[in-house]
Amino acid sequence: MSLRIGICGLGTVGAAVLGLLKDKSGLLRQRSGTEMEVVAVSARNRNLERPVSLHGIPWFDDPIEMAAHSDIDVIVELIGGSDGIALDICKTALGSHKHIVTANKALIAHHGLDLAEKAEAVGSTIGFEAAVAGGIPVIKVLREGLAANGVDSIYGILNGTSNYILSEMRDNGSDFGTVLKEAQDKGYAEADPQFDIDGTDAAHKLTILAALAFGCRPSFDDVTIAGISDISELDISFSDELGYRIKLLAIARRGPDGYQQSVEPCMVPKVSPIANVEGVFNAVSLHGDRSGPIFLEGRGAGAAPTASAVVADLVDLARGISLPIFGVPTKSLAPNTASVVGTITGRYYVRLMVLDRPGVFAEIAAALRDEDVSMEAILQRTRAPGDLVPVVMTTHEVEQRKIARVLEKFSSLETVIEEPRVIKIEPLGG
Ligand code: HSE
Repeated sequence: MSLRIGICGLGTVGAAVLGLLKDKSGLLRQRSGTEMEVVAVSARNRNLERPVSLHGIPWFDDPIEMAAHSDIDVIVELIGGSDGIALDICKTALGSHKHIVTANKALIAHHGLDLAEKAEAVGSTIGFEAAVAGGIPVIKVLREGLAANGVDSIYGILNGTSNYILSEMRDNGSDFGTVLKEAQDKGYAEADPQFDIDGTDAAHKLTILAALAFGCRPSFDDVTIAGISDISELDISFSDELGYRIKLLAIARRGPDGYQQSVEPCMVPKVSPIANVEGVFNAVSLHGDRSGPIFLEGRGAGAAPTASAVVADLVDLARGISLPIFGVPTKSLAPNTASVVGTITGRYYVRLMVLDRPGVFAEIAAALRDEDVSMEAILQRTRAPGDLVPVVMTTHEVEQRKIARVLEKFSSLETVIEEPRVIKIEPLGG
């Protein structure tokens, strides 16, 4: 008996999976108790130079034909994209009673529920360990290790590319575009890196984690998303001065009126563990009601860590392990009700670019007073009469809707020249 594997997509991750299956075939046979055999591959371009040989492996020009082929047990989908060919492949594979292993977070975030229902109906399983946080086995931790726990909140750094960019900008003063190019060259970024930068990729991953942690339906549309493209060197430097680091944080919390799910750049205390997760590394922090706090950190992107997660799912399949895809049967998943965003509270950093002239501070203070927003600290670092200077303030705990109204007031002031920059301050772990 062997596990017959068909791989669709032979890019950075696909080639690494193939290489790993070859390099460690003996170890994997021992650990899974069976031969793990790649019996088919399919990719866009057969003739591309690859770091691994395809010699002797049957090639399919049409991945759909491969997904329907009767002599394959599991389709490994490594093409990416929430819809289109990746979705068609998975539907076809399930339609012909195969299992699926995928690194495709967009697909699982958008269609995971539908695919899981289809898989349940035919007795197949879907492995997506590689879809979240690269080499960190967080799906296993949530679905298996914490099976006896209630989890009320989960937060983390879920995108390696954006974390790499923020770390390099801060440490080396590197320019955004240059560091993004580096991340692409290292194989960290998405095919369209916009998803890394604008928070979408982290939101896909958070959607999956929230469903597993809370036992609710995955609901990508309920994640509020902001990315890192507006983070400037000035904010990075002020953040440092105030004792914080800026991280693109993905947060999911169970509240009294529903779930709060967000991805946004946040300031975290420099001394907190999450602030020290740097470069391509990801981290996930969660709290089980019996296990207590758990902090996982590891490489969040790149060929080898992602291939490690893909192959772990294949080993589970070879061992005959089949678990409810989102931790419970799909019909038991709770509705995903979003919290009322405006009433969520937080502390904020606000940076204004103002004309340095008498009375400006009074106008700023009046706007804060009118909206009942309490300021913790304010600083104006330079003095340039008649010219443009940054004014930075941090607030005490305030409702999101109040800070939104204050920002509107700031924007309408004649002396405030650019759109105010606002970053949430998260005291997590500090
Ligand atoms: N582009 C993703 C990242 C790859 O940078 O985290 C891993 O999902």
